[in-house]
Amino acid sequence: MNSEKEKQFDYMKKAGEIVKERASEKGRALTYFIQTFGCQMNAKDSEKFAGILEEIGYVATDGEDADFVLYNTCTVRENANLKVYGRLGVLKTKKKKNPEMLIAVCGCMMQEEEVREKIRQSYPYVDIVFGTHNIYKLAELVYDRLSSQKRVIDVYDEATMIVEDLPQHRKYSFKAGVNIMFGCNNFCSYCKVPYVRGRERSRKAEDILNEIKDLAADGVKEIMLLGQNVNSYGKTLEEPISFAALLKEAEKIEGIERIRFMTSHPKDLSDELIEVLKNSKKVCNHLHLPLQSGSSKILKDMNRHYTKEDYLSLVEKIKTANPDIALTTDIIVGFPGETEEDFEETIDVVRKVKFDSAFTFIYSKRTGTPAAKMENQIPEDVVKSRFDRLLSEVQNISSEVVKRYEGKTLPVLVEQINEQDSSLVTGRLSNNTVVHFEGDKSLIGQIIDVKLNECKGFYYLGSVAR
Ligand code: 5AD
Ligand code: SF4
Repeated sequence: MNSEKEKQFDYMKKAGEIVKERASEKGRALTYFIQTFGCQMNAKDSEKFAGILEEIGYVATDGEDADFVLYNTCTVRENANLKVYGRLGVLKTKKKKNPEMLIAVCGCMMQEEEVREKIRQSYPYVDIVFGTHNIYKLAELVYDRLSSQKRVIDVYDEATMIVEDLPQHRKYSFKAGVNIMFGCNNFCSYCKVPYVRGRERSRKAEDILNEIKDLAADGVKEIMLLGQNVNSYGKTLEEPISFAALLKEAEKIEGIERIRFMTSHPKDLSDELIEVLKNSKKVCNHLHLPLQSGSSKILKDMNRHYTKEDYLSLVEKIKTANPDIALTTDIIVGFPGETEEDFEETIDVVRKVKFDSAFTFIYSKRTGTPAAKMENQIPEDVVKSRFDRLLSEVQNISSEVVKRYEGKTLPVLVEQINEQDSSLVTGRLSNNTVVHFEGDKSLIGQIIDVKLNECKGFYYLGSVAR
């Protein structure tokens, strides 16, 4: 057994004894609440935290009136940081009412010295601070805090080890994220991720495949392979393996019916992957391919290593092999130096590619990144107006594109009861489009043939096919 793993299970037990004692003093179970900010990686990490906290004896609850509140933070855009500070402010009053409450913050923001300093100075009631490189230590940190009454701040500058097989509490019984790699080596000039998540490290294929087999045995039908740049998976392993080859292995696992992955950097997308997308029955008909900008000049300043033409010809190649594929993307508006012409190039790519959907972001200046030092930062009003134009272009195109299956019958994996109307269930097509149709909770986790009666912009209303 991995000795770090053993050590952490030991801490779970020791922390568990203290939690049990406190619960019996209070005459009720102690509760936890995790709020996740940011990407799928964070969502996955939060499932690991939930697993550890439950092993310790905490019971999940829905809001911040919990005995243990954990914020798993994101620092990609400044907004995300501001939200965390705002929420921490609210927690102060809650902690006054429940002085034994523990507050923990972790994740990407905590990798930044100035954030830690601010928390040290201005948020003395935060009990535990840890970063992205020691998430496996949560039980130890909880134990340290419970047994010493001192706040615990533990952040590593660099990644150390990948600790396998710690508990996880999955949010869904039928779908799961699976980390295949951590970190990023790309240093896009606007992005904080390489600084806060460290260098690229791939998990061993064997560990990944074993995890997927266990998930399948546990009833999971859909997996999402996670990495900042999955296309460079495996290159630095002792036994190198390509991402496409990993997909082919994952596909062999019985019980798994859908395989998704996030995120693909266009510069590393291989012909081998395009072939797998084309031939595989299980790899979903969807590719998220961040564009960021349509201007070759801006792309160069962003350090993206492709031009507008490279991107368009890659899309052409992908669509020729997979005419039905749903393409989605990320776009940043207002990168330093972006002129009206540069912005028009972005609009041009959006029109040519016809994305099924696009996440559009206003450029956020992040301290420590090369772009933050660039001249020509764009005035807010100009960015806002470009953002609005882009959004309406994206929405118009997407409502046309998404509609292409209207009237057809396609399989839907049912995910949940519809949030607005409890007579409906909500699920997704292989291409990730959302579908609502009449049904009840017995359908959750099943793949059902649904007739797509009507497209409502970015989703469908359907009915069970007979
Ligand atoms: N400003 C705005 N958007 C950003 N992203 C990353 N860094 C920034 C930033 N500084 C976006 C990119 C990336 C997505 C996850 O977040 O589009 O693909
Ligand atoms: Fe950030 Fe670029 Fe790495 Fe994506 S590929 S995480 S945008 S540096």
